[in-house]
Amino acid sequence: MHEFTAEVEALAQEVLAYSLDRLKNDPPLDGPRTAQDLFSELGNTITPAGLGGHDALAVFTNVLAKACISTDHPRNLAFIPSAPSEYANLFDLVVGASALYGGSWQEGAGAVFAENQALRWLSDLAGLPQSAGGVFVQGGTVGNLSALVVARAQARKKYPDAQRWVIACSEEAHSSITTAANVMDVDVLRVPVSENGKLMGDALAKAIDGLHATTSKRVFAVVATSGTTNLGIIDDLKGIGAAAHARGIWFHVDGAYGLAALCAPSVREKFAGVEDADSFIVDPHKWLFAPFDACALIYREPELAREVHTQHASYLDTLHDGSWSPSDYAIQLTRRTRGLPFWFSLAAHGTDAYTDAMEHTISVAKSAADLIRVHPNLELVCEPELSIVAFTRNGWSAKDYQSWADTLLADQVGFIPPSSHHGQSILRFAIVNPWTKVSDIKIILDRL
Ligand SMILES: Cc1ncc(COP(=O)(O)O)c(C=O)c1O
Repeated sequence: MHEFTAEVEALAQEVLAYSLDRLKNDPPLDGPRTAQDLFSELGNTITPAGLGGHDALAVFTNVLAKACISTDHPRNLAFIPSAPSEYANLFDLVVGASALYGGSWQEGAGAVFAENQALRWLSDLAGLPQSAGGVFVQGGTVGNLSALVVARAQARKKYPDAQRWVIACSEEAHSSITTAANVMDVDVLRVPVSENGKLMGDALAKAIDGLHATTSKRVFAVVATSGTTNLGIIDDLKGIGAAAHARGIWFHVDGAYGLAALCAPSVREKFAGVEDADSFIVDPHKWLFAPFDACALIYREPELAREVHTQHASYLDTLHDGSWSPSDYAIQLTRRTRGLPFWFSLAAHGTDAYTDAMEHTISVAKSAADLIRVHPNLELVCEPELSIVAFTRNGWSAKDYQSWADTLLADQVGFIPPSSHHGQSILRFAIVNPWTKVSDIKIILDRL
């Protein structure tokens, strides 16, 4: 099984050649095909005798990979794309080849030590105390859920008689908050945002007090978003944290996308108040140049998370020796050392390179907004706060937006699916890729 045969060696060379080619050259945009279409070309790839490594790899490189949109293409500005650094991608190969177990200190001390240093950098940027800490989980959805489960456990201690639990957040908060609420069987209080799209502390306080005064429901966590997925707007973190804490409520910041920009001095002050968070998340796979899938989940008091998330069983007790086991801080047991590609890139490049890359993407977003402002057919939805630029095309129906986006992808120019804001179709650029140039933005705007 472990023999490194000539066949394995040949395959290793092929895998490396493919990976290097993918890294060296501009990624293709590519696009989806139907399952029927793929089946008619490939048939069943799972066979009793196996295809052999060479042929299975060829199936992937020649067919399957081409039916996947490259999230790191410089003109893939959809949803929140990704832009892993070459170092992070290369180190992901090392992680894959190393059979590392990232669940416990006992088994993965060296890897966990490195992950924890990367988490420390993020925690320090946010201004949390040295006692803060956490874990890399699969994504923002699991990060938010894990933090909210800890928040509810604390509230249960304080208010054992509460009838029904509620998460308070803005109407613009990410869909994963609703998902978390469904999993936890709790309610969501979605508070309207101000004119500039932000959830403000006073509006939140009023909504919570109103709920507590008129129902037996109790808010156990407030989720502030920094910034929102659709428009990149940062809530009033200072006011929200104060409103939450004045009422003994857990303050969680969902910074899956936006908190990455904590390392950019030009926008750092927009995050004032994050230092008061009881927990926060930020996804390095979004805007911190790491491959999928990695969400940094950080708690002010990790001990509280450990009480809630540690799994107990006779076969696991040997791991509970007082050391730091990542599995104890989220909903998971076995875990990949998914923070390591991010750690490697950060360690190798240094944090200044991250600041530079972040500032660059923010400046491209600003230039995109400038170009849209003077474009005869386009209007900005709002001034970009971070690196999401949202705009409308005069005179277009929802159908026009969709067919424009479909053609853009079919022509292999870019991937910019439409979204909507207040019922109006919009287009949005989510610029997280340092290789997205102003010239790329121009290529897209020229088609509008
Ligand atoms: C603000 C915000 N929160 C949470 C998430 C969910 O993160 P993930 O897709 O990694 O689960 C996203 C994803 O875009 C997001 O933008």
